[in-house]
Amino acid sequence: MLGIYLSGTGNSKHCVERFVGLLDEKGKTFPIETETVVDEIRKNDFIVVGYPTQFSNAPLMVRDFIREHAGLWRGKKVFCINTMGAFSGDGTGCTARLFKKYGANVLGGLQIKMPDSVCDSKLLKKSFEANQKIIKQADEKIEKWVEKIKEGIYPEEGLNLLNHISGLMGQRVWYLKKTEHYSDKLKISDACIKCGLCQRQCPMNNLVHTGQDKPKQLGRCTMCYRCISHCPVQAITLIGKSVVEQTTYEKFASDNT
Ligand SMILES: Cc1cc2nc3c(=O)[nH]c(=O)nc-3n(C[C@H](O)[C@H](O)[C@H](O)COP(=O)(O)O)c2cc1C
Ligand code: SF4
Ligand code: SF4
Repeated sequence: MLGIYLSGTGNSKHCVERFVGLLDEKGKTFPIETETVVDEIRKNDFIVVGYPTQFSNAPLMVRDFIREHAGLWRGKKVFCINTMGAFSGDGTGCTARLFKKYGANVLGGLQIKMPDSVCDSKLLKKSFEANQKIIKQADEKIEKWVEKIKEGIYPEEGLNLLNHISGLMGQRVWYLKKTEHYSDKLKISDACIKCGLCQRQCPMNNLVHTGQDKPKQLGRCTMCYRCISHCPVQAITLIGKSVVEQTTYEKFASDNT
């Protein structure tokens, strides 16, 4: 079994690692941007794919990865894991439909509530304790479903027609402009200390850092919030105007691991 994931603040990484680790002790997991990931996919017939929901859609980078490697999926067993702050409708369905189109056998999907990753908006911010509880509940949900999967029963969260309609009408249609192209809206303030961390972390190679000036963006941001949640001086914003709280899975998980 192979797990691949796009993860900005570590939520989807954690869920895929836990799911794969519990189901297959020999299973491996990789970030989707890993250079060798295509070779790894070729070697495995059961692929677990994880990513955050973005406006009830899958990140464009994940959708493009599936489309660009259309020939990889025929005959593969695929399980989709979508993490979310509150609501994703058919977050798993958004990739499941693509996988099916390219000949994969989609076995199921899990939509898992995790801490909100949008560091520059107050909208879904919760207390430290509330986020710890959310992670504990997520882990329990994964464990419960892994036991059922071992008996051959797969969850189908986000995969049916009603989920499709709720994701589409609940959010996706209204936010289409935000998710149909890569973003060029990343802002880097003069607080930047030119450390280069954001460039090294970006899964899209969207940031160019020369060391002389603050990094420049190439308009290829997939809105993962990794650079924003890790910048040591909170210099980066995307949706909002200032960083409210940098959040990562590790910050809330210390008592759970
Ligand atoms: C651009 C963006 C859009 C998001 N849209 C939604 C959303 O529509 N619904 C939701 O519940 N969470 C939304 N979230 C929250 C993330 O899906 C959630 O925190 C996820 O677990 C982050 O996973 P990661 O750490 O693996 O990136 C959004 C996050 C970002 C960065
Ligand atoms: S991580 Fe922050 S401080 Fe470091 S180069 Fe990027 S924007 Fe500047
Ligand atoms: S620029 Fe930042 S938010 Fe955009 S894809 Fe790269 S790491 Fe993610």
